[in-house]
Amino acid sequence: MNDFRLYQPTYYAFGKDTQHLAGELVKRFGGTKVLLHYGGGSVVRSGLLDQVKKSLVNEGIPYHELGGAVPNPRSDLVYEGIELCRKEGIDFVLSVGGGSAIDSGKAIALGVPYDGDFWDFFLGKAVPTDGLRHGCVLTLVATGTEGSNSAVIMHNDGMVKRGASTDFNRPAFSILNPELTYTLNPYQTACGIVDMMAHIMERYFTNTRDVDLTDRLCEGALKAIITAAPKVMENPRDYETRATLMWAGTIAHNGSLGVGRQEDWGSHNIEHELSALYDVAHGAGLSVVMPNWIKYVMDTNVMRFAQFAVRVWNCEMNFEDPKATALEGVAKLQAFNKSIGMPLTFADIGAREEDIPLMTEKTRSDAKGLQGNFVRMTKKDIEAIFRMCV
Ligand code: NZQ
Ligand code: ZN
Repeated sequence: MNDFRLYQPTYYAFGKDTQHLAGELVKRFGGTKVLLHYGGGSVVRSGLLDQVKKSLVNEGIPYHELGGAVPNPRSDLVYEGIELCRKEGIDFVLSVGGGSAIDSGKAIALGVPYDGDFWDFFLGKAVPTDGLRHGCVLTLVATGTEGSNSAVIMHNDGMVKRGASTDFNRPAFSILNPELTYTLNPYQTACGIVDMMAHIMERYFTNTRDVDLTDRLCEGALKAIITAAPKVMENPRDYETRATLMWAGTIAHNGSLGVGRQEDWGSHNIEHELSALYDVAHGAGLSVVMPNWIKYVMDTNVMRFAQFAVRVWNCEMNFEDPKATALEGVAKLQAFNKSIGMPLTFADIGAREEDIPLMTEKTRSDAKGLQGNFVRMTKKDIEAIFRMCV
């Protein structure tokens, strides 16, 4: 196990009716004036926004509203939010909605005290040293942003999608009421399932040795999600299943499962180019990319993928030919994704082969031009993975 540092300051209020605690929690975490931030209107239609407003009013906390965060949230609204917070002397950002609204709120919170352009943090040109406090009421289980140290934003200029990771992105509190996810349609629910599984797999596929504890935690979480998936598709209003998925989505990405091991993140960075170019849902893009990434890198450490196949997908180990077992595991992953209505190929998401050079060029890479950790991929490798997705 590698040495690690983990800062997890988030207070979680989990369960029925917890949205009514929003005002109390803002107060507890020092907020005196709130930016109430949300997406395209699902929280207005469901009545959730009104409940949250009421709870702020009950605590005597004034607020300003800013809706309009779109899936794959854009920078223009972040700039608008930063200006609004500065003008009104707002000291707390409360986001209500899915990952896009919450990430947009996180970016606003980072940008308010910063003299430069908030986008500097997403380009790696500057490191945040401060940020407004923020919290969220989660309505879509997928991204794990309710506990994560990251935010992902798309810049309107050039439609570049980038993430920024910093402890300032950890919410002061997150309100998690599984009932708020009943209204998610099957497609959004499935995208969320793929995303949370991907967050676990980005950590699971590692070259770090002696990580049995986190291996087992990852495998257990994946198995619980795989069991819950058909149940939630069958009955979207099953509280216990929605609850299992909600907490699974949170622990998948709040750092607990990745400590002490090198994480990968190559598939995520490749996927961001699909959502940037085609505005496809992040989970749907991952459903196409990640199995192909696995096939491409498998030979580097075939036993790790065979272990994944045996422990997560109940495949029988073929000791004569571990690669056959590993391939069976990835086939089961793809069959699972398909069974919940997720895409497997470029054609399924309307992506075009002729765009591969552009997406390859735009994919984030480090100073050495490399991407990912399990295998340090060159642009040539990334292009090959895109081609496998066709
Ligand atoms: O905008 P509204 O009207 O609220 O509707 C949303 C949106 O259309 C709707 N929705 C949300 N909750 C609902 C609901 N509809 C009915 N009932 C509900 N309870 O769902 C649509 C999608 O919402 P969005 O927030 O875009 O989805 P998601 O939560 O999957 O967030 C995706 C974004 O998060 C980023 C992704 O790249 C993408 O930009 N990620 C953020 C991460 C992080 N911050 O740690 C990590 C992830 O890997 C990911 O990259
Ligand atoms: Zn993700």
